Amino acid sequence: MCGIVGYVGEKKATPILINGLLKLEYRGYDSAGIAVIENNNIEVLKDKGRVCNLESIDGIDKLASTIGIAHTRWATHGKPSKENSHPHTDNSKTFAVVHNGIIENYNELRDFLISKGYTFYSQTDTETIPNLIHYYFSKDEINDNNRFLRAVRCACNDLKGSYAIEVISKLFPELCIVVRKDSPLVIGTGNKENYIASDIPAILSFTKNFYLLDDNEYTVITKDSISFYDNNLEKHNKAIKSIEWDASSAEKDGYDDYMLKEIFEQPNSIRETIGSRLKLDEKCDFEDLNFSKEYLSTINKIYIVACGTAMHAGLSGKTIIEKLCKIPVIVDIASEFRYRDPLIDNKTLCIYISQSGETADTIAALKLAKSKGAKTLAISNVIGSSITREADYSIYTHAGPEIAVASTKAYTSQIVLLAILAIYFAEILESSDKETLENLKSDILDLPTKIGIVLDNLEPIKDFAKSVYTQKDMFFLGRGTDYNVALEGSLKLKEISYIHSEAYAAGELKHGPIALIENGVTVIGIITDSSLVEKCISNIQEVITRGAKTLVISNQILPNNHFDYVIDIPSTSCLISPILSVIPLQLLSYYISKNKGLDVDKPRNLAKSVTVE
Ligand code: G6P
Repeated sequence: MCGIVGYVGEKKATPILINGLLKLEYRGYDSAGIAVIENNNIEVLKDKGRVCNLESIDGIDKLASTIGIAHTRWATHGKPSKENSHPHTDNSKTFAVVHNGIIENYNELRDFLISKGYTFYSQTDTETIPNLIHYYFSKDEINDNNRFLRAVRCACNDLKGSYAIEVISKLFPELCIVVRKDSPLVIGTGNKENYIASDIPAILSFTKNFYLLDDNEYTVITKDSISFYDNNLEKHNKAIKSIEWDASSAEKDGYDDYMLKEIFEQPNSIRETIGSRLKLDEKCDFEDLNFSKEYLSTINKIYIVACGTAMHAGLSGKTIIEKLCKIPVIVDIASEFRYRDPLIDNKTLCIYISQSGETADTIAALKLAKSKGAKTLAISNVIGSSITREADYSIYTHAGPEIAVASTKAYTSQIVLLAILAIYFAEILESSDKETLENLKSDILDLPTKIGIVLDNLEPIKDFAKSVYTQKDMFFLGRGTDYNVALEGSLKLKEISYIHSEAYAAGELKHGPIALIENGVTVIGIITDSSLVEKCISNIQEVITRGAKTLVISNQILPNNHFDYVIDIPSTSCLISPILSVIPLQLLSYYISKNKGLDVDKPRNLAKSVTVE
C-alpha cells in the first residue's frame, strides 16, 4: 500500500523525494511526508492530504540536505492526520522511520516501550519502530560504526507482521538503513548517489540499475556504497539487475490520465505479452518453463488464485485451460483460499496472478500451496517482484508499468498469457486438435489490430457515459465467458465511478435481482458467444420489458435489435473475446468518472498494491 522513497547523494534530496512520491501516489494518497538531516538534526515535514500539499509547507524549499526519506500513506492504524503521517521519530528525534506494512504486535511493543518511559504522539503501529531502535541503540555499549545497524536489526527482530522500512539517524548523517519483510523495496544505483523506492517507476527516470531486496536483508546505503547484511549481520554480495522499462512509459505522455493512456497502450502491451512465445505453425515456447508431458499428465486440478482484476483474468483463464487441456480449473480469491484449507497436493498446479507481484493475500496463498507440496507458477508484470521470487516458476506479462489504480492493460495481458499457457500445455499434452490451436493462435496474433478497431470507436461510449453518469445503480449481464467480463466491467465502474453495480450470469437474473429492475435502470449486456446469443438476448429482453435502458457489446449478428445502444466489436474466438469486449467497459467507466469530475487515477479509499491483509 504506502509508497516509500529515499535518496542519499550529492544533490538536494527534497525535490527528488517529492518527485518520487508523486510517481508513487497510486500506492496511497491520504497523507505524505519527508524527513531529511539538516545541520545534524532531523527535520520532518508532513501533513495529511496529497503529495502536492507538501510543496506548500513553509520552509520545504529551504532544505539543502542531500539525504532523506519520504512516504505517501494509505492509512491502516490511525486516521489520516498530520500526527499519523510518516516519517515518525523516536522521542529524542535521533531516528526517523518510514514504513509500509503492518506491525501486528504493535500494542505489545507499545506497552513495553511505555514501561521503559517512552511516550507516543500518534495512533500508528509505525511509531513503535523508531522508539525500539532508540531503545536498542541506547542499550548497546559498543560504540562502533555498526551500532546503528545492530539497533535496527534488534528492533526488526521484535516486529511481527510485514514491513519495508527506511531509517535515518542524526548521529549517522551520511547513511540510510533499509530492510523489508513481505513488503516491496528496491534500491536504484547512480553515480555518487543511490535511490530507494517501494516500486521501480518512482525512480526509473534516475536509473535503470536496481537491487531487488530479499526479506530480512539489512542494507546500509551511503552515496558511494551499498552493503548487504543477513540477519546475523554477515555481509554478502548481491547481483544488480538492469530494468528494461523506458522512463517515459511511467509518464502520462500527453494523456489526461494514466488510466486512459494504459487503455490505449493495449495493442502494444498485448504485442509485448505475445513476444516470441507464440507463432503460427510452431509450438508455443516459454523460455522459463520446461514442463514435460509426464508431469502435466499427473496434474489432477489447477487452482488459479488472485485478487481483484487479476482474479477476473483468472476466470477467463479457467475457460481456456479447461477447454484446451481438459484439466479441471478452480479459480479462487486469494484471501479466501489462504484460510480455506484447500484440497491440494503434489498433483495440483497452483497458478498465482498478480500485476504488482506484491499483493499480500496472493503471496500468502502461494506460500500455503508450496507448503502442501503443490507446484506453483506466478504470473506477474513486475520482474523480480515478491511473488515471482516465491514461486517455483514465473512468467511475465511484459505489459509495462501500470500506474492507474484501476487495472486495464494488465488484465488483458494476463488473459493473453493464460491463453498462450493453455496452448503450450495443450500442445505438450496433445489434448486439443492442431486446427483448434492454430485458429486460436491466429486470433491471438490478430488481437492488437482488433483492439485498435475497438479504440477507434469512442463516440458511442462517450455518448452513453454522458447519458448514464448520474445513475446510482447498474447491472452487467453475460453468459459463459461474457459473465467473466461482466464481473470486470462492474468492478471497474465501482472502482473509479463510485456507482453501485452488480454483475450477474444473465440466466440467474430472474432468480431475484430482476426485482430491482424498473424504469430507467441501466443494464449492460455482453454477447460474444455464438452458441449463447439467443439465450442472452431473451434475458436482456426481460429487462427491456421492465423499463431498463440497455447497452449491448457484441460481435454477433443480433436479431430483433431493441437495445438502446449497441457497440460492435470485431469477432474473435469466444475464448479470448474478453480481451476485446472489456475495452468498451474500461472506457465507459473512465468517461463516467470524468463526467462526474472524479480523480480517475486515484479513486477514494483504494490503492494499487495491497501489501496488507
Ligand atoms: C488492488 C488494485 C486492483 C488489483 C488488485 C490485485 O485492489 O486496486 O486493481 O486488481 O489489487 O492486484 P495485483 O497487483 O495482485 O494484480
